[in-house]
Amino acid sequence: MRTEISPTINRHDWKAFAFHIPDISLTLELDNDLTTVTTQFTATMLHEGQHVLELQGEELTLVSLKVNGQLWDASRYSLDAQMLRIPLETTDSQIEIISQCSPAQNSALMGLYVSNQQLFTQCEPEGFRRITWFADRPDVMSRYRVTLIGDATRYPLMLSNGNLIATKQLPDGRQQAIWEDPFPKPSYLFAVVAGNFDCREKRVNTLSGREVLLQVYSDLGDGDKTEWALESLERSLRWDEQRFGLELDLDRYMIVAARDFNMGAMENKGLNVFNSAYVLADPQTTTDASYRDIEAVIGHEYFHNWTGNRVTCRDWFQLSLKEGLTVFREQEFSADMLADGLDSAEAASAKAVKRIDDVCTLRVAQFSEDRGPMAHPIRPESYEEISNFYTATIYEKGAEVIRMQHTLLGEADFQAGIKEYFRRHDGQAVTCDDFIDAMDSVYSRNNPGKNLNTFRRWYQQAGTPTVTVQEQYDAATRQYRLTLRQHNPAVGIERLNTNAAPKQPLLIPIKMGLLNQQGQPLRVELNGEHQHEFLLELDQAEQSWTFNHVDSQPVLSMLRDFSAPVQLHHEQSLDTLQLLARFDSNSFGRWEAAQQLARMALLALSSSEQHSVDIASVQAVVQVWEELLQDHSLSPAYLARILSLPSVRELQTLQDPMRPLDLAAARHTLQVHLGTRLATLWQQRYEQHQLPAQPYSPDALSAGHRALKNLALHYLAATASYSALALAETQYDNANNMTDSLAALQAIVYYAKPAVSQPYLDRFYAQWQHNPLVVDRWFSVQACSPQTDVAALRTLMQHPAFTLRNPNRARSLIFQFCMNNSTSIHRPEGYEFWAEQVIALDALNPEIAARLARAFDNWAHYAEPQRHALHTAFLRLQEQAQSANVTEIIGKALNI
Ligand code: TRP
Ligand code: ZN
Repeated sequence: MRTEISPTINRHDWKAFAFHIPDISLTLELDNDLTTVTTQFTATMLHEGQHVLELQGEELTLVSLKVNGQLWDASRYSLDAQMLRIPLETTDSQIEIISQCSPAQNSALMGLYVSNQQLFTQCEPEGFRRITWFADRPDVMSRYRVTLIGDATRYPLMLSNGNLIATKQLPDGRQQAIWEDPFPKPSYLFAVVAGNFDCREKRVNTLSGREVLLQVYSDLGDGDKTEWALESLERSLRWDEQRFGLELDLDRYMIVAARDFNMGAMENKGLNVFNSAYVLADPQTTTDASYRDIEAVIGHEYFHNWTGNRVTCRDWFQLSLKEGLTVFREQEFSADMLADGLDSAEAASAKAVKRIDDVCTLRVAQFSEDRGPMAHPIRPESYEEISNFYTATIYEKGAEVIRMQHTLLGEADFQAGIKEYFRRHDGQAVTCDDFIDAMDSVYSRNNPGKNLNTFRRWYQQAGTPTVTVQEQYDAATRQYRLTLRQHNPAVGIERLNTNAAPKQPLLIPIKMGLLNQQGQPLRVELNGEHQHEFLLELDQAEQSWTFNHVDSQPVLSMLRDFSAPVQLHHEQSLDTLQLLARFDSNSFGRWEAAQQLARMALLALSSSEQHSVDIASVQAVVQVWEELLQDHSLSPAYLARILSLPSVRELQTLQDPMRPLDLAAARHTLQVHLGTRLATLWQQRYEQHQLPAQPYSPDALSAGHRALKNLALHYLAATASYSALALAETQYDNANNMTDSLAALQAIVYYAKPAVSQPYLDRFYAQWQHNPLVVDRWFSVQACSPQTDVAALRTLMQHPAFTLRNPNRARSLIFQFCMNNSTSIHRPEGYEFWAEQVIALDALNPEIAARLARAFDNWAHYAEPQRHALHTAFLRLQEQAQSANVTEIIGKALNI
């Protein structure tokens, strides 16, 4: 049974903290086993009188408490497992707390912890309270002065936020470093790192000519793998100057790589701590996708310096204020980097590749979240454990909500709105309302009679709206009438609140255009404007638009660039989709049409008994794929996306009830069918996209060639033909980069007999066993293989390199198996295994355990026998869950 309880926190219960704490001084006597922290600050009452200073603290030992210089005994304050309460009478009270914590015992990786013998902190959202008692909430902002003391050989480097003020040697082999961060900040942005690291650095000038020092720290011996990270950091700095006019405000900006890390990275002021997977790169060990991911995460954390740190969140309900905006900024940065140096037509299709990848993530992770018991608005109304709300909704849907504002305002006005936001709120802890108020001030000024009032509902309402499309063409009047209906049913916890007001229509920006039957864009008239493309603002439950001068029955290209995070209900014929897949001038729309054909074929295949490929939708896919394979005007990166089949997880979000085993079988059938029918074309593409012998480069064009070549390899290998597998073996033997070796290894492991694949796995392991990030890959390939069942997975867990304690390792094996091995997980023993691992992880790392628990939180959408088996597994989990994190997930999952 659970041992921790978390009451529900409600957004409307927020109250300002009763004290100001403008300055805080921390002295940490660092030691992996027992660290002593001295915390000193002056607490100033906001209103005269008697007030209790409430300071959070967890897993700490109190050594002493002094108030105004006097030692207080336990009778004068109250202390429980969560909180230290100090009753105060003076307006200003000097507080001194001496406390201790045990970093080496900290397997949750929140607060101060040990990774590879070095010390790291992770404070967001509520980790600072595991370092000392404090007002651990984002609206309490203080200037930090940090003194680090530790053994000089154990911790030659001792880092914290801001500027290094002084260092000195102490007797008995210790040393001391004093850091000062000039910017007031909430406790969640505090950081300390201590140990021995390699460092790569560069001095650059900011836009206004200030010299700043950029540094990337990594474990000893990894210093040769940080070049890409440092370059990415510099590109991020330049891009934020150029696109947003935002400059680095510090003299020194540090990134440190940690092996053990719960998420991707953390934007601590001036001292970002990163999962080493998002820092370390070299051609031999890093895939193309990882190069892009590293650049994206470095950008993300860097952009937080303005959107998150300079302006922060008032409370955790506002999390999307910083995360949605920062994800949006990262998406734009990544897209601009892909388009760098291209002409405008090429740039548009290069950026579409990034949009496609982001929309795939949104659909797989966020749309499914919206269907499950954890569905929440981007600004939630309540939570039990805030760590559970670092979700796809907050991040990815949050970014979509910002993107829609960008679409509605246009780049110039959006930038004006951002400027206004910083003018109003620089240095403050604010709310999502404050953000949209700033945007609305520009929008309503420049669009008389309009405002963002209806749009704001995106912040309040959960769920993926459905938009139903109805078309009507009248040849006599040459008019085309488009009718759209939006539907926003209650989802998740919204359904429990039966007396809530019905949900209201949202403002949904819809980018669309019309094509003629030859696929050419039509220039038509709407409300006096003659254009090829329109932005419709759907803000009623039902609305119609009538286009004039439409000479023939048009084809609708809807929701271009995925201009809103909605699910379309649009009955389109196979012919219409084929036409769009051939001709839509919008790259995203073209991809979407081809994917829609594939979705229709896969859903049809999965519901037919014999999995017969003799159906019209499969034939349409074959035709379109055949044409695309011969189209040499499209970039290889784009082709690699448009020719990929939707994942089982994406398809699941379209099914009710969900039959993942049928979907996986259907997907395999179609993959093999396309591989067989189009073998010659795949073979040609495979050869055409081989890069001439040259050193590896992660640039987008080369990566595109590799992506398409490896997709061709995958289609061919799926047929399990001798020649295709020989191709994979040759590629493995000759590869000079990880993208190609891993693609080949994957093809072999998925489709060859174990007698063939095992020697390759053994060779791969022997070669890379000393590189943890590559060993993660080795586990992942096997975890996802259709040939790996639960028994094989358990054997892999016995491997000496496996440990649940390292989140990357747990993710590479356990999470990959549970989330991406559709053929093996959806069996009774699969679910048993999953529940067992949730419990095992819960004892070590509740945050990670809760994420694993969420893998099946939408159990009620599964068909039988999965539904019942999952329900049983959840009931067992309910008995055994320990942490508040897992308890919340299970409670919500069972309460639907
Ligand atoms: N704020 C971080 C980001 O999005 C992520 C983060 C939140 C995090 N909580 C964390 C990272 C806990 C590690 C551990 O960039
Ligand atoms: Zn972030």
